[in-house]
Amino acid sequence: MKNLVNHNETENKSIPYRINNFSFEYKKVWELERDFGSSFFLLDVNKLRKNYQKIEDAFKSRYENFIIGYSYKTNYLPYLCRELSKLGAYAEVVSRLEYDLAIKIGEDPKRIIFNGPIKSRDDIQYALNNESIINIDSFYEADFVKEYAREHPVKQIKIGIRLNFDISENGISPHQEGYEIGRFGICVENGDFHDVIKQLKEQKNIKIVGLHGHFSTRERKVETYGKITERLCQIAKESIIDSLEYIDIGGGMYGELPKSFNTVVPTFNEYAHSVCEVMNKEFSGHENKPTLILEPGLAMVANVFIFITKVIDTKTIRDKHFVLVDGSVHNIKPTMHKKNLPMNYIRQNEEPGKAKEIFNIVGYTCMEKDYLAHEIVDVLPQKNDYILFENVGAYTIVFNPPFIKERPSIIAMDQDELIEVRRKETFRQFFNEEIYCF
Ligand SMILES: Cc1ncc(COP(=O)(O)O)c(C=O)c1O
Repeated sequence: MKNLVNHNETENKSIPYRINNFSFEYKKVWELERDFGSSFFLLDVNKLRKNYQKIEDAFKSRYENFIIGYSYKTNYLPYLCRELSKLGAYAEVVSRLEYDLAIKIGEDPKRIIFNGPIKSRDDIQYALNNESIINIDSFYEADFVKEYAREHPVKQIKIGIRLNFDISENGISPHQEGYEIGRFGICVENGDFHDVIKQLKEQKNIKIVGLHGHFSTRERKVETYGKITERLCQIAKESIIDSLEYIDIGGGMYGELPKSFNTVVPTFNEYAHSVCEVMNKEFSGHENKPTLILEPGLAMVANVFIFITKVIDTKTIRDKHFVLVDGSVHNIKPTMHKKNLPMNYIRQNEEPGKAKEIFNIVGYTCMEKDYLAHEIVDVLPQKNDYILFENVGAYTIVFNPPFIKERPSIIAMDQDELIEVRRKETFRQFFNEEIYCF
């Protein structure tokens, strides 16, 4: 991997975009293009550390026995995962692929939280052998755990259960995408949770040590968290209090948004207050308070990535302007939502006083809907300028399909260094001869 020293150059007259010690004036970005290609991601490691610290401080100051399990699926760039691990985060994984990545970056298997709806018999056995934290999602996994327990009669086996219960407010479901109910976990209301506990307890060497309750909600409201925590605590007290070691409330919080979003969202302190107040109340007087686990994804990484892409051309069709860039909506908004992200322009020629126009920013794919931004009002970018999109760290590189072009490189800005932490993909890597038949 290349290590490049940052040189701050100040000859450009306009105020350059800055991140920490890095200043993105035109010449600098042009040099970056030469080294890394005409579109690339930048990871702000300093901001990542700050996010971790802010989340940890918010919760730990209110409830001491607290763990962050970073949600790998949100962005499993190995460098980023390793940095979070160094800060103290556990790895929250939902597949064997992610589990193996955690091992590869040197994570202690005991600090891996294995969630997700699909775990094979082999996955469960491997994770139990490693004494990882496992939250089962369905009955078939309980069968694998029981089988393992029978095969290892002298071993004490610890297991957690992901729950599914009603979190509607005044009859309105807060689930994402308008779903009336969530599909994950084991249902409390229909008695399934009761049954799974009964089945697991039949095997004397199984201990149910944790309850998990991740709910992906539309509005990510503070009150929802208080409610989820309360329900988890009450169910734990009713059913597994003697063996309870942790309450895992999943992820789903908002992170800090760039100011230009003009949207007010709850702070980490507000989330922490609502959750920890419940934990402290529910377990007041308990000698061994359970560990509180939080699994932030978006809140940890959304604002630590930016994407820089080059303007290839501009054109006008009828009276509409299109700015064509060497990136794609897949790089920054794989869900293709229509909200424009915060942007900055790195222009080759500043033309003060030039009139603003309305334009769309469109990508390299052949899909009509490949819009990186809609109906922007600004000075029209010109060929060879660069456009920088902020807040692109969550659910981007992990969802970026191998579609039409190789994946771009990712460069970490760490202290005064730029480190290429993912190289731009090549034809040979894209069409890997070990997996394709030519
Ligand atoms: C079990 C679990 N934990 C944590 C997360 C992270 O959620 P978010 O990125 O919204 O914080 C998810 C996301 O789907 C999840 O399924």
